[in-house]
Amino acid sequence: MERDDVPAAAGVLESFSLDGDAVLVTGGAGGIGAAYAEACAEAGGDVMLADIDADGAESTAAELAEAAGADVRAVACDVTDEDDVRDAVDATVDAFGGLDVTFANAGIGRLFDPVHSQDLEHWREVMAVNLDGVFLTTRESAAAMRADEGGRIVTTASVLGLVGTETPGLSAYVASKGGVVQFTRQAAVELGPDIRVNAIAPGWVHTGIGGGMMREDAPGMEPVQEQMRQETALGRLGYPADLKGLALFLASPASAYCTGAVYRNDGGYTTT
Ligand SMILES: NC(=O)c1ccc[n+]([C@@H]2O[C@H](COP(=O)([O-])OP(=O)(O)OC[C@H]3O[C@@H](n4cnc5c(N)ncnc54)[C@H](O)[C@@H]3O)[C@@H](O)[C@H]2O)c1
Repeated sequence: MERDDVPAAAGVLESFSLDGDAVLVTGGAGGIGAAYAEACAEAGGDVMLADIDADGAESTAAELAEAAGADVRAVACDVTDEDDVRDAVDATVDAFGGLDVTFANAGIGRLFDPVHSQDLEHWREVMAVNLDGVFLTTRESAAAMRADEGGRIVTTASVLGLVGTETPGLSAYVASKGGVVQFTRQAAVELGPDIRVNAIAPGWVHTGIGGGMMREDAPGMEPVQEQMRQETALGRLGYPADLKGLALFLASPASAYCTGAVYRNDGGYTTT
């Protein structure tokens, strides 16, 4: 990959191509990460899924490889573990000959207790995955990218990194995602001009997060999801596939002059 220093000379559709690019997606076994991976595979990228759920990553990789006709592989990785993250980056470089794009996406979020009774252990668990994990993934990816031609890093923040929520028990999650937003901005400054770093801030999306609380049929969650729908201008929650277009934009030369920014993909949740 050549550095995106100038607008793509080719046509705009070609600027979305990842032909020959190596892509690493943490938390790629399912949900939003699998959608990012699918977008990149469809655009011609070679993709490595890194996930703590090794079996899930393997089966998702096989499905995406077949559907997109792409080289999609899997590696077991706990993003809170420095060695695991370094190994996942090395595995990507070894498999595909470099690293051009990283999605620092793995994250967890559950409804815990409200702030006055929030447990410290749960707080630290969320911070370890959502914030330490994004830091470690960015650091190790940047080291590999700087040794080559540079690259693009996309973090997964959340609208809850930008605003609070009526849904209680999310203080650790909200704080962690606020940290991802600010980390992304600072990383863009420190890693430019070779590496562009941007964040995607999804709204509420139907995935397996939080033990399945965001699934469409999640037991007991309908009133909460209805409240979320009412607060969303488009009147529905998102699906992972809603994130694919933005993910590909930020992963590709189409976004050549974008860095240090947070892109909301939230159905209008944060408009009011
Ligand atoms: N679903 C939403 O409403 C929503 C909204 C905004 C942001 N997000 C963010 O999107 C990202 C993806 O979440 P999702 O909704 O697709 O959830 P998900 O649970 O469907 O997927 C998360 C993936 O991360 C993996 N993972 C968890 N801990 C890990 C670890 N320590 N190391 C490596 N992998 C790990 C899981 O195994 C899973 O495959 C997260 O950062 C999440 O905070 C989700």
